[in-house]
Order: sequence, then structure tokens, then C-alpha cells
Amino acid sequence: MSVAAGKPRGVLFRWAEILPLTEKTPRLTLGEGDTPLVRSVALEGLCGLDELWLKLESCNPTGSFKDRGMVVAVAKAVESGAKAIMCASTGNTSASAAAYAARCGIDCFVLVPGGKVAAGKMAQAVAFGSRILEVEGNFDQALNAARELTAKHPVALVNSVNPNRIAGQKTAAFEICEALGDAPGLLAIPVGNAGNITAYWQGFCECAERGLANAHPRMMGFQAAGAAPIVLGEKVERPQTVASAIRIGNPASWKGATSARDESGGLIAAVTDEEILEAYRLLARREGLFVEPASAAGVAGLLKLGREGRLRGGRAVAVLTGNGLKDPDTAAAQHTPDITRAEATVEGVERALGW
Ligand code: F0G
Repeated sequence: MSVAAGKPRGVLFRWAEILPLTEKTPRLTLGEGDTPLVRSVALEGLCGLDELWLKLESCNPTGSFKDRGMVVAVAKAVESGAKAIMCASTGNTSASAAAYAARCGIDCFVLVPGGKVAAGKMAQAVAFGSRILEVEGNFDQALNAARELTAKHPVALVNSVNPNRIAGQKTAAFEICEALGDAPGLLAIPVGNAGNITAYWQGFCECAERGLANAHPRMMGFQAAGAAPIVLGEKVERPQTVASAIRIGNPASWKGATSARDESGGLIAAVTDEEILEAYRLLARREGLFVEPASAAGVAGLLKLGREGRLRGGRAVAVLTGNGLKDPDTAAAQHTPDITRAEATVEGVERALGW
């Protein structure tokens, strides 16, 4: 199960010393973690930053950051003898849970909000052979059900309320400090259920304690305006946004997110769907980075703060959480295709191009 050719890659190998592993924890991997950190010269000026670095979490095996935490959660579930796992999801957690369950030969039950999960993510859950339950309700209701079901039945809950998920996800902060030689001044990140901002903050605090960073970044979380409970200070009963991954009205790690904000001197703000889609298009057209809409929320937030003159230089990292291939419908709606029909000959293509 943990067999990988060559030098073992993966979060459980690379970061064993900062994870809650024992000798009995299976060394599971699909090659997650160790994702690229690339500089965005095109966007840093637009944001009013000296340096903007993008952490490409879309390069994880199932195409999102969830794999970092899921590998730990599933390995620990298998260690404890679990034969099945369950999660509620807007799509990425379920794709990741389903993949690692398939790798371990255990059952996976996923609860997804009916009709609200992007097509690519559903395709992944189907391909990996998970048992999919489309619930008549939103993510928050699905998570409540998953919590109660896993308390009642012998099935491990692998949502980010499981501390092993947070432990795995904090490894991204370590990679960033390692790559830059210090923590960045700012970290921009989309906020949905708020597990990831909680995990990054934990990771940066541990990096400072271990001498891998001299300071902490200011944590800048961004919610979609139609699903911004932390910004509003109250639950949103009917969250709405084009960024379906973060369509969440009552984040489980609400407190973790506000602690990260307050302890770091950061902020949690809202970005509109238009601002998210502007960043989504800019990342594709200016940087060659095809992310899903939710992933663009961090960059959208930095662009907005930049426009308002609130960023004065410095070095920022924005986390790009998921791959654009997951949501082909939004891609088709947002990018006008430039397609010309041509005969399959040199002359035919030349004619079509007007050469
Ligand atoms: N970006 C993407 C692509 C996501 O899928 C999610 C969350 C987030 C950002 C927000 O992260 O929840 O830790 O604050 N997706 C979850 C899911 C809810 O079910 O896949 P968060």
C-alpha cells in the first residue's frame, strides 16, 4: 500500500517528525505534498506587492490541497482498525477521501450537497468507487449528518474536524518556510470550512518555534461574499457563490480562523463572485494557471486590497487550493473559446488562420 518507486515521496515520509505517526501507522502515499511555489511577476505589481508567490496545491494527486491532510487521516483510520471512512464535502474532500480509501481497500461514504458539486469532483468520487449520497441540503447540513452518523456507526469521520487532517495540512506552511528561507509577510487563502487557514496558522507557529522562520505571516482569509459567515459574524443559512467549494454558511473551524486572524494581526474579508472570477481569469491568462474558482479567492482578495492601496510592498504567498479541471462548467462559462473550424490539411489550416 505504501509502495512507491524510487525515493519515497509524500507527506508521511517527508514530514514524519511533525506528524502524529506511530510505528503502526501505515506509510500510505499517492505522492502528495512537495508542491511548487512559483513567483507571479505579472500579478505582484497589480496587488502592490514586492513579491507574490503562488503555492500550487492544485498539483496534489487528486488536484487539491485536501490530499495532505487526507493521507494522514486515512492512515490513522486504518491504523485504528477502521474499515470505512465518511465525509461531507463540497467535492474536493470527497475526491481525496475516495482516492485514499481506494488505495487502502476500505469503504468510503461521501455526503454531498445535491446538484452543487462541480462535475470533475463528482467524476473523481465515482471513478474511485466511493458510495455517494447526494443529500437534499447544503454542506453544513451534510456535515452535521456525517458527524452524527460517524458517532453512531463504526465509520471514521475524515472531515477537517478530525485533527489528523489539520496536522497533515499544516505541512504546506513548512514547505513555504523551507522554500523562502522564512515565513512570508502575508498569507492569502480562501476560507470555506476554515480547516485550511487553521492548519496553516498552526504550521507557521510551529515553524517559528522550531527556528524555521523568524516571524509569523499576517493571515489573510477570503470568503465569497454570498457565503461569508465569519466576515458577517453570523451563520449564513443559504450560502451562495460561484465558488462552490467554499459555499459554506457555518464553518466547523470558525474559531480556528478567527484565532489565526487575531493572533497574526491579519483579516478575514469577503470577495464578490465577480472579483473571484476576475482573479480566476487573470491567473489563467497571465500566469498559465488553471485553478478552480474558490482557489482564486485569495488572489482576488490581494488584488482588491491592492486596489484599495492597503498593501505596501512586502512578500506574500497565495494558496491556490484546487485544479481548474475540476469545474469545467465554470471554465466554459468564463472563457470565450476562440475556435475556428479547419480542413485537416496544411492549406486548410492556413486558410482558416488567414496565412
Ligand atoms: N479551496 C478549495 C478548492 C476547497 O475545496 C476548499 C474546501 C477550500 C478552498 C476551503 O478550505 O474548507 O479548509 O476553509 N473544500 C471542502 C470540501 C469544504 O468539502 O472539499 P477550508
